Amino acid sequence: MTDAILLERERGLLTLRLNRPDKKNALTRAMYSQLAEALEQADSDPEINAVLITGSSECFTAGNDIADFLEQPPSSLDSPVFCFMRSLLECRKPVIAAVAGAAVGIGTTLLLHCDLVYISADAKLRMPFVNLGLCPEFGSSLILPRMLGQAKAAELLLLGEGFNGEQAAAWGIATAALPNGAAALAKAREMALRFEQLAPGAVQISKQLMKAPDREQLRKVIEEEGALFIQRLHSPEAIAALSGFINRV
Ligand code: COA
Repeated sequence: MTDAILLERERGLLTLRLNRPDKKNALTRAMYSQLAEALEQADSDPEINAVLITGSSECFTAGNDIADFLEQPPSSLDSPVFCFMRSLLECRKPVIAAVAGAAVGIGTTLLLHCDLVYISADAKLRMPFVNLGLCPEFGSSLILPRMLGQAKAAELLLLGEGFNGEQAAAWGIATAALPNGAAALAKAREMALRFEQLAPGAVQISKQLMKAPDREQLRKVIEEEGALFIQRLHSPEAIAALSGFINRV
């Protein structure tokens, strides 16, 4: 275990803190594996009521580590990023996100699978997959058109337009926008600790019922997107765009 993921336990709440500030919390294969393991342990630990995912008060995450994409791209649906997202999708306990600053790529996508999202109004979200020669991932091509309508979703997924925390809350991607990162974290913690007062069985069944209608379709879409994403990572367009980021001056 490195300290790029910090695990903090407060009564029945497990906080997973992304902690790689020099690289804007960009997620490496090792970080995905640690996150997956922590989520799976939280899911099976009867003492844990809820999980909180956060970064710092300046940055949530700059998304997948771009050097990793070039040097060790995911090669199958068992790669660390897929294990992490599977453990998030299958987590029976409520997962809450506290977001500030940049939430790029998977940093935005993962929010679509959290139960509650508290965000600073000026957070900067973006899914620049097309801009990097890639394609949407982990169900966003299904969820966003349904949530926002085709026309708005196309702006985010076909143009890679960015948006802020206030917009994320207005569109239903986030639960609420708060004035700053500290306020977003405080609100997320307050709400996450509320699960201690609720019957865990009732909460878990309610979450399961909310997720059940889309589960099969989502699984199928995630597999399709995943296979195409892996292919795209080897495309000349993606290699040029990703190398362009690494070699920028
Ligand atoms: N992968 C690897 N390294 C990354 C990274 C990523 N996704 N995002 C940022 N970093 C690194 C930078 O290379 C830089 O490292 P260096 O100091 O060793 O040169 C450091 O983090 C700081 O990044 P910088 O771009 O200088 O910070 P910023 O505040 O000006 O901008 C972002 C922050 C998040 C807007 C910008 O870094 C960015 O656009 N990152 C790429 C996001 C992305 O495309 N993610 C993948 C989506 S699939």
